[in-house]
Amino acid sequence: MARFKRILVVLGATLTVLALAVGALFTWLWTDADVSTVGDARFDRELAIPPLAPSRVAEDGTRVFDLRMQAGETEFEPGRKTPTWGFNGSYLGPTLRAERGEKVRVRIHNTLDEASGVHWHGMHLPARMDGGPHQPIPAGGRWSPQWTVDQPAATLWYHPHPHGATEQHVRRGLAGLFLLDDDRTARLPLPKRYGVDDLPVIVQDVRFDGARLDGDRGLMQSVGFLGDRTMVNGTLRPYRQVGDELIRLRLLNASTARTYSFGFPDDRAFSLLATDGGLLERPVPLERVQLSPGERAEIVVRMRAGERVMLRSFPQDNYGGAWQRRFSGGDDSFDVLELRAARHLRPSAGLPQSLGVLETPDGSDAVRGRYFDLKRSGINGRSMDMGRVDETVTRGTTEVWTVRNSNGMPHNFHVHDVQFRVLEVDGEAPPPALRGPKDTVFVPHGTVMKLALRFTGPADPGTPYMYHCHLLYHEDEGMMGQFVVVEKGGAATGGGHIPAGPRHAHRH
Ligand code: C2O
Ligand code: CU
Ligand code: CU
Repeated sequence: MARFKRILVVLGATLTVLALAVGALFTWLWTDADVSTVGDARFDRELAIPPLAPSRVAEDGTRVFDLRMQAGETEFEPGRKTPTWGFNGSYLGPTLRAERGEKVRVRIHNTLDEASGVHWHGMHLPARMDGGPHQPIPAGGRWSPQWTVDQPAATLWYHPHPHGATEQHVRRGLAGLFLLDDDRTARLPLPKRYGVDDLPVIVQDVRFDGARLDGDRGLMQSVGFLGDRTMVNGTLRPYRQVGDELIRLRLLNASTARTYSFGFPDDRAFSLLATDGGLLERPVPLERVQLSPGERAEIVVRMRAGERVMLRSFPQDNYGGAWQRRFSGGDDSFDVLELRAARHLRPSAGLPQSLGVLETPDGSDAVRGRYFDLKRSGINGRSMDMGRVDETVTRGTTEVWTVRNSNGMPHNFHVHDVQFRVLEVDGEAPPPALRGPKDTVFVPHGTVMKLALRFTGPADPGTPYMYHCHLLYHEDEGMMGQFVVVEKGGAATGGGHIPAGPRHAHRH
């Protein structure tokens, strides 16, 4: 009997120790998963501004740019060389800029030792010029897409889109801005001196493993790779001296998986001017703007003479359950960019009351609806197949797409070629930050959104555009589908031939 008691005591003690150990491990995992760089370090590096890409105008009036995709090394920290990729340099790329109505051609040379590609995110253009997985550029190859810019002024961007390897190519540094201008915007009194009172802000999260950029996804990170610090335009701990009262920030979330909620520590209101595809109808005062991967926002912030103010990313309460918030980045916070105001600021013109009229459809002329169920395993239960066209739409028509996420984790939804209007979020009118032209929307778990899209062509039944989750790990895993635009009564001629591309190119 005594012996039996002793066994029980020992067993009990062992179980208690085990439970404590599991508890401690869990507490450690839970606490460790919460990433914050707030107040950690002095922001003492001057923010790099991507150069404006030089261009020349050919005889037929086409504006021609040259982009060279290349491997190189970047010193994010002095004396520490990190292997990276870039356009016309070792990391990121120059800012392309063109006007509405202009013909543009971009001559791309891929000098990398693997196939890649360049997609024009947010651009309305023929499917053959889109730079999706059907237009790969082989190692050493060249590609010169051309099109006519026919959409409002906006902050767009470009990045590779190789099938199954987009995350890796973007994370290594292949991304840049493509700014569009138009007459209407040129006449508005907005901050518009590039690099002075109109700053590009390309935000990425990174993690270093020695000198190397790490890309490993944490065990419980269902969204993909999450870094432990951020950089802007490739600058760690960046600051920027500013000399004007009003500063326009063109925010691009170029991270592969992380969603941010930008604002300022004193909760000052700033004005939201533009979303992905251009200006809102009027500036909207906000204290936070949330951007999931691929989304852009243009904001204007008022500076006080002599102050230093941090652009910060705050924890997000619409990120799903406590588990998702903790392990997939929703609880995280980052100091992103310090703005240092001069002692004497140049006065800025006040922002206009009205910015213009939206060109996005309001859905009233929609000819049909479609339904998209977002799951990590695929959209509408199907994983991406380059040989399968999922949807066929008619040129010149408007449709309403209903997008739903009940997958227990955050996703977003991006559609190539169009700028759409968000009609409804869970049956209600969208919040002000979702009322401008959009090509990418954050769709948290438990959300249903209705979008109005108009497809203005040109028709090309043999070449698909993509729609997908822009959390690039999900996209690469197959959370993507294809649509073609056809003339009335036409049919898709198939995903057509599947180019010899970097299908499941090597991963790290
Ligand atoms: Cu920014 Cu299909 O991509
Ligand atoms: Cu895109
Ligand atoms: Cu996703």
